[in-house]
Amino acid sequence: MSSGSKTYIVEHLDPELGAWSELEYLAIARESHEAGSNFCLSSLPPAFKVPEALTKIPSFTAETRGVEELYASDKSRVCLLDPAAASDLSPEDGNKFDAFLFGGILGDDPPRDRTSELRKKGFEGRRLGPVQMTTDTAVRVTRMVVEGKTPLKEIPYLDHPELKFNEHESTQMPFRYVKGEDAKPIMPEGMVELIRKDSDKAIDDMF
Ligand SMILES: C[S@@+](CC[C@H](N)C(=O)[O-])C[C@H]1O[C@@H](n2cnc3c(N)ncnc32)[C@H](O)[C@@H]1O
Repeated sequence: MSSGSKTYIVEHLDPELGAWSELEYLAIARESHEAGSNFCLSSLPPAFKVPEALTKIPSFTAETRGVEELYASDKSRVCLLDPAAASDLSPEDGNKFDAFLFGGILGDDPPRDRTSELRKKGFEGRRLGPVQMTTDTAVRVTRMVVEGKTPLKEIPYLDHPELKFNEHESTQMPFRYVKGEDAKPIMPEGMVELIRKDSDKAIDDMF
């Protein structure tokens, strides 16, 4: 039986840290800290430069070791959030597990199942419903279920929302998000601006 504060582990699977991942990791670190839980970014390459804003969050840890090594003595405490798992995460899983593991990979459309790299390690898996979420959304939803005890089906979601930048420009996100009190998708601070910049760049590159 598990008790006490939860640890959210993102096993970083990309060689570098892109601007999107940096904003996502910062949002996870801030929200975990506010909730009294821990956030660990594992499997970092030794030369990896941890962004300064992250190092300032006291409950955040950066690890070059992978999750298998970190939890070698008690794998059964770790739950892998896996889009291909046979059963969905439930509030009772908060009693069974005290660490929740996520793939540190950007979402892709169609999904390439890079979570399979973590599946091979043999942790018990749970799904967060059938739609692909961003990593920060997956952590947010897991916290709502295992700490807030809200069943997955009662969380308000926004699927594939359209971000409207102005009258002429908009972009559709191929992910599921949690719906905020303002009825907009909850996203890391600075993400909408980054998406807008990236979409402007994509348009510029066409000419
Ligand atoms: C952006 S998703 C990556 C999904 C991806 N396209 C892949 O290759 O697996 C990042 C992480 O969030 C978690 N995640 C996202 N959506 C999920 C879902 N519906 N069920 C379980 N986990 C999910 C997984 O841990 C996944 O590795």
